[in-house]
Formats: sequence, structure tokens, C-alpha cells
Amino acid sequence: MTILLTTIFVLLQLQQRSYTTAFSVMMNTKRNVNTQMTTVFNLAKDTVLFLVLSCYYILESIFWTLVPNALRSMKSLKGDVVLVTGGGGGVGRHLAVKLARLGAKVVIWDISVEGLQKTCQAVTDEGYEITSYVVDLADRTAVYTTAEKVKKEVGKVDVLINNAGTVFGYTLLELTDAAIETTYKVNILSHYWTVKSFLPDMIQTGKGHIVTVGSVAGLLGTYRCTDYSATKFATVGFHESLFTELRAHGHNTIHATLVCPSYINTGMFDGATPRLVQMLEPDYVAETMIDSIRKNEVNCVMPGSVRYLLPLKCLLPAKMCWDLMYRVMKGPQSMMGFAAKPKVS
Ligand SMILES: NC(=O)c1ccc[n+]([C@@H]2O[C@H](COP(=O)([O-])OP(=O)(O)OC[C@H]3O[C@@H](n4cnc5c(N)ncnc54)[C@H](O)[C@@H]3O)[C@@H](O)[C@H]2O)c1
Repeated sequence: MTILLTTIFVLLQLQQRSYTTAFSVMMNTKRNVNTQMTTVFNLAKDTVLFLVLSCYYILESIFWTLVPNALRSMKSLKGDVVLVTGGGGGVGRHLAVKLARLGAKVVIWDISVEGLQKTCQAVTDEGYEITSYVVDLADRTAVYTTAEKVKKEVGKVDVLINNAGTVFGYTLLELTDAAIETTYKVNILSHYWTVKSFLPDMIQTGKGHIVTVGSVAGLLGTYRCTDYSATKFATVGFHESLFTELRAHGHNTIHATLVCPSYINTGMFDGATPRLVQMLEPDYVAETMIDSIRKNEVNCVMPGSVRYLLPLKCLLPAKMCWDLMYRVMKGPQSMMGFAAKPKVS
């Protein structure tokens, strides 16, 4: 009798538990369906909103591409402290002169004392003022110390142009370890030290602009540039991630511009003979860069046509890309005559 009663009790318990489980499964399923429907609805809503906004963004972009600079309002740099790294040569010197003409308080950094003197001369000859600092961008401590000096002696930096760059021009096996490290220190690591030095003040005042000078070699791997190209690819990632952080944290008034020029006639790539793209003049590059800054553009690729060719890299078969690069553009061949720098760091 006891066994019979216990068996009935256990069976009743099991049945009740299975009812409860079935009920909770039913409820969970209902809840899951509801959650899934909400997720799908939110995704659909965000996608529709994105598509509507995309139409606006595309039309806006076409509009601003067609409107000449003279007819649009551009950001004034008058009175702004603009720091140009690598201001002692090439594009940096042209930037310094043009920025001074726009009324900016120009500060230049360079490792070359002679280069700095020449730029200062070019600016003061036109009747403007300029401040220069000798600094090796490969030396993190020197960068931090010089940044503090600038803040004390000149004031808060409004526009930071990370322009300095270096290239050795050897194939991977010919490159010394020291050369590889120098390229990384100057071309990309220094960007971390300068941005860490000047961004906090920009955030505090709600005003600032960080310009990252990359290269077309940072969008397309280049012969004899495993170090240079890799650091320039890194500048793209640096700029895009920094841009994401600024926007995600609501710092919408701090701007970021990535500049990717093709070959420039400054001597950096002396001996290179690009087949389909012309060597750009440093004056043109500096002018275009400043226009881009004044328009708060996020990307500035020179020449502009390169921007439309780049997606092919991901769309075409790899063999076809190589053939296009080797047979049609003669990319590697154009770098064969490039006069490499001495193998010192
Ligand atoms: N020249 C080109 O064909 C070309 C093409 C695409 C991108 N770029 C990029 O444009 C920028 C400017 O190039 P450029 O053609 O005017 O070069 P450049 O060699 O004429 O000038 C670079 C300046 O950076 C300075 N510099 C180098 N190492 C330094 C260091 N350790 N510390 C401080 N200063 C240092 C040099 O002294 C020089 O004044 C660079 O970032 C370069 O990589 C150049």
C-alpha cells in the first residue's frame, strides 16, 4: 500500500513538473519569438534610416565635390596654433608658409636644424612669425618634453599635422633591424605620442583637428617598402580608429583628416618613375591638404582618381590585381631606380 501511494505521489510530482516545464518552455519560446521580432524590427528600422541618410550623404558629397572652394565657407585658421611635424622640409615647409599666410600661429618640429632654419627663413621673409623646435620623433621622451614646451611657450595646439615621415627603400632582407624600427618610430609611433600630448586640451576646449599624413603606399603594398608601406597602412588604421573614438564619445567638434598622397616631388622617392600617375608637386599637396583641413574632410586622397581605383583591390581576383600592377602600372619596376637611403637609423 505504502509503495503504491509513494508511486502515485512520485508520478503526480513528475507530471506536475513536466506541466511546469512545458509551460515554461512555451513561455520562453513566446518570449524568444518576441525578442527576435524586436531585434528584426530594430534592424529593419536602422537599415531603413541608414538607407535614407545614405541618399542624403551621397547627394551632399556630390554637391560639395561640384561646388568650387571659392563659393563655400571654409574653416578659418586665423589665430589657431598649428603644429607641423617634419616642417623642416618637403611638404612641411610649404604647409608652414601657406598656414602662416592664413594667419595661423605656426609651430614646426623637425630633426634637421638646417631644414628648420630654411623654413623659418621662408616664413619670416614673408613677414610672418613662426616657432621651431628641434626634436627627434623617434625619441618618445623627446616628443613628450617638446610637447610640454610648446604648450607653455606657444599655447594650446588647435591643429596637429603629423606630417614627418621617413623611408629607407630596401627589400625586406636588405633592411637592417634598426632601419625597420626607425621607420615604425617616426611614421606611426610618434603619432601616438603627439596625439596623447595634444588631444586632451582639444577635448577640454571642444576645438581641435588631428591630421594624419599617410600615403597611397598605405593603401596599396609597395615594392621595397615593407617597412614604409606597413607603417602607412598603420596610419590609416590609426586615423580610422581615432575618428571612431572621437565620434563615439561625442567629440564631434574635434576633427580628423587622413591624407594619402601618391608620389610627391620632394626627393623622398628620388629615382622612382611611376607609369600612370604623375609626380605631385609639394606646393599642390600642401594647398590641397590645407583645403581639406578647412573643409573638415575625413579623407583626402591625391590624386582623387586613385580613390576610385582602390576598391578593385578587394573585388578583382588576386592574379588579375598583380597583372594590373606589374604589367599595366609597372609598380615594382617604377621603384627599381629609387635611390635608397643609407642603411643607418
Ligand atoms: N614624397 C612622397 O612621394 C610622399 C608620398 C606619399 C606620402 N608622403 C608622406 O608625406 C609626408 C611628407 O613627406 P615629404 O615628401 O615632405 O618628405 P621629406 O623627406 O621631404 O620631409 C620629411 C621631413 O620629416 C623630417 N623627419 C624625418 N625623420 C624625422 C625624425 N626622426 N624626427 C623629426 N623629423 C623627421 C625630415 O627631416 C624632413 O624635414 C611624409 O609623411 C611622407 O611619408 C610622401
